[in-house]
Amino acid sequence: MEWTRKQRYRPLTEISSTELAELQSTVDQCEWRQTFHIQPNTGLLNDPNGFSYFNGEYHLFYQWFPLGPVHGLKYWYHLKSKDLVHWDDLGVGLTPDNEFDSHGAYSGSAIEHQGKLYLLYTGNTRDANWVRHPYQCVAIMDDNYQITKLDKPVIPSVPLGYTDHFRDPKVWKQDDRYYAIIGAQRLNQTGCIVLYSSTNLLDWTFTGEIETEMDPFGFMWECPDYFELEDQGVVIFSPQGLAASGDHYQNIYQSGYVIGEKLDMQQNKLRHGDFQELDRGFDFYAPQTTVDSSGRRILVGWMGLPEITYPTDSNGWAHCLTLPRELSIQDGYLLQQPVKELAALRQQVHIVKDTIANETKVYEGFTGTSYEMICEINSIDAKTVGIEFRTSEQEKTTVYYDTTDKKVVLDRTYSGQDVGVDYGTIRQCTLETTSIKIQLFVDVSSVEIFINDGIEVFTSRIFPRKNSDGIRFFASEGSAEFQMSKWDY
Ligand code: FRU
Repeated sequence: MEWTRKQRYRPLTEISSTELAELQSTVDQCEWRQTFHIQPNTGLLNDPNGFSYFNGEYHLFYQWFPLGPVHGLKYWYHLKSKDLVHWDDLGVGLTPDNEFDSHGAYSGSAIEHQGKLYLLYTGNTRDANWVRHPYQCVAIMDDNYQITKLDKPVIPSVPLGYTDHFRDPKVWKQDDRYYAIIGAQRLNQTGCIVLYSSTNLLDWTFTGEIETEMDPFGFMWECPDYFELEDQGVVIFSPQGLAASGDHYQNIYQSGYVIGEKLDMQQNKLRHGDFQELDRGFDFYAPQTTVDSSGRRILVGWMGLPEITYPTDSNGWAHCLTLPRELSIQDGYLLQQPVKELAALRQQVHIVKDTIANETKVYEGFTGTSYEMICEINSIDAKTVGIEFRTSEQEKTTVYYDTTDKKVVLDRTYSGQDVGVDYGTIRQCTLETTSIKIQLFVDVSSVEIFINDGIEVFTSRIFPRKNSDGIRFFASEGSAEFQMSKWDY
């Protein structure tokens, strides 16, 4: 179905309850609804927003277009949780309904200030000629989860030198001052990040562009994030417009990070290492982090990408969020580990230890469409070792390590219904290792794969049939010792 502009910008207030109920029933009939991931009730979910820890609870919002699987008038949808596993649904958090956000309450972040949670977001507007005018806006949430938008934007214009692609403020506090970085595009169509500062989150001063060592690097940097971890400065962002190169930048758009010295706020300078992709899978974009009361830095991403159609579209919904991941730094790289609270989802366990040589094996209890599995493979003298999951006679998704090429490979060629095939059906990365630990979180239509405790992660949607629920383990051209544990979720 082609969506007209009018259909994309219809506000929820104009939608009858019958229309919504019909849409809901179409969504409910979808065979690919997830079981333990955050997904929209109807319509399209994209970026995580306003991820924060406030009054003993995690708050997480996401970009939401309620009416179908397309990008239209965006709301913030609101969830909260005490444990990052079980989420309470608080419904719409931000409604785009005034002249400063008439065409969408776009992405942004949240921070506590004087006992309230301040949401800083981009109000997207379009004029009569469909020219975009972005505003940076504030809304304030009280103890009762009531959110009130301010009447006027706090950053009402784009500074000279930048285009109307100017959005996604990420706020943090340092030494009694607030700082916000915003993703921007220079007039010469290259991406960058600019910095603002404030004492009260209401009056903001433009302090300039952040000078990095990447230039030029894509045409727009979306959803920037800055934090300090283990005494280093980390900038995460989602650059658009990088050309694929070898195993890198294979998706339509990327998201990754640089690690370096702490951001020099006086000179607006960042000294840093190379850009690294956060995720090696097919479907990962626009992540956001927060820090909780124990000091953990936690990341959630959008398990999807712009401008790609997905098999769930015909059922009136699209996308979900990733599981929350705790970040740490090892040898100059970010490690991502699923938060330990996820163990609360573990039900029945199956454990097997076996030597596999030149064969593919199956084990009792190792089936399912929604589970966590950890597979440790040691004493490898095989050429390839790996796992096929969500298998049936026709379908399988394969993750393996090739000891000759030193590559970890995820192959979704036979995963089920096609998605994004113009961008290929295999993702891989180089890893030097003699043993490999593969931790998988499999849901009805996704997999998140953590390699060697999060040194690499592959996040992907897959769309197999329901009866493709097998799991097989293999070693070819030699043998290896496998030890696997699987928990039903
Ligand atoms: C990233 C993004 C953001 C924007 C939002 C709109 O996916 O394009 O830059 O704020 O989505 O939904």
